[in-house]
Amino acid sequence: MDKAQEARNKAYAPYSRFKVGAALLLANGTVVLGNNQENAAFPSGLCAERVAAYHAGANFPNEPFVAIAIAAGSQRKTNEVPVPPCGACRQALAEYEITQKKDIALYFMGETGKVVKAHSIKSLLPLSFDGSYL
Ligand code: THU
Repeated sequence: MDKAQEARNKAYAPYSRFKVGAALLLANGTVVLGNNQENAAFPSGLCAERVAAYHAGANFPNEPFVAIAIAAGSQRKTNEVPVPPCGACRQALAEYEITQKKDIALYFMGETGKVVKAHSIKSLLPLSFDGSYL
């Protein structure tokens, strides 16, 4: 969570003023950091979790994901409750979980307060779509 907060501080979120940081632990011990990267053309931006996951996928292609920690914070209000990851990021992370055949633990929080742990991505994404349907 400390590393997720560290990543959050470096987020580029001038439009939403909502910063998110993600710290992704790989099986070899590497921790890949990501944060949200926004764009004046709004849909061109990307969430913190996917920045981290795609960086890991690109640079450590055979290294399983062990866990991801996510910390979110709004510059408009203090989120004292855990902020869950968006559906698109759950879908993106599920791809890695399915491929590596091992659960990825997920931890998330707001700015202060409790941390929620999910034991797997699939536990947060029931009835999910995956490559077996293609
Ligand atoms: N955001 C994330 O980085 N992760 C999430 O799971 C939810 C939303 C970002 C996207 C956008 O830059 C800002 O938060 C507001 O939606």
